[in-house]
Amino acid sequence: MDPQRLKDNFAQVGGHGMDVAEYFYADLFERNPHYRSLFPASMRRQQEVLLGALSQIVSLVDDPERLVPYLEDLGRAHAGFGINPEHYPEVGTSLVATLKYFTGDDWTAELEKDWAEAYGVVSDVMIKAAGQK
Ligand code: HEM
Repeated sequence: MDPQRLKDNFAQVGGHGMDVAEYFYADLFERNPHYRSLFPASMRRQQEVLLGALSQIVSLVDDPERLVPYLEDLGRAHAGFGINPEHYPEVGTSLVATLKYFTGDDWTAELEKDWAEAYGVVSDVMIKAAGQK
């Protein structure tokens, strides 16, 4: 995994602002309509916190001493929201689809592999911290 490649790609995608979070949730709920009820009626705040969390994670991707405790807290919070390990791969699929969409022609097989790997590590830490693995 190449941390700088992830940061550069996220900076490029992040330039599209809230459209990114909107696209992500639309994709997630289209693939998994039954996930909608896990979230509040108004998605506005959720869209903002998602973008904030992703940008925090990407900025700490090469700083595990700070990243791991952050993800552990986030994982425990998610168990409290009723999220279990089966939900994680679906969110990863929509996340990669969103990054791919906003990256357009610059998307590469390496980016796809890096993001899948990074998301795998992130979800592993979250799930383990919640005592779900
Ligand atoms: C990389 C993985 C993920 C990140 C970065 C992330 C980020 C966040 C953040 C920052 C919050 C707000 C936490 C708070 O208010 O304390 C949140 C809440 C939430 N997330 Fe995630 N999340 C991830 C994975 C997932 C997965 C796999 C699901 C399953 C569908 C999920 C569903 C939810 C729900 C239902 C809430 C609570 C909404 C509410 O009632 O306010 N998240 N997420």
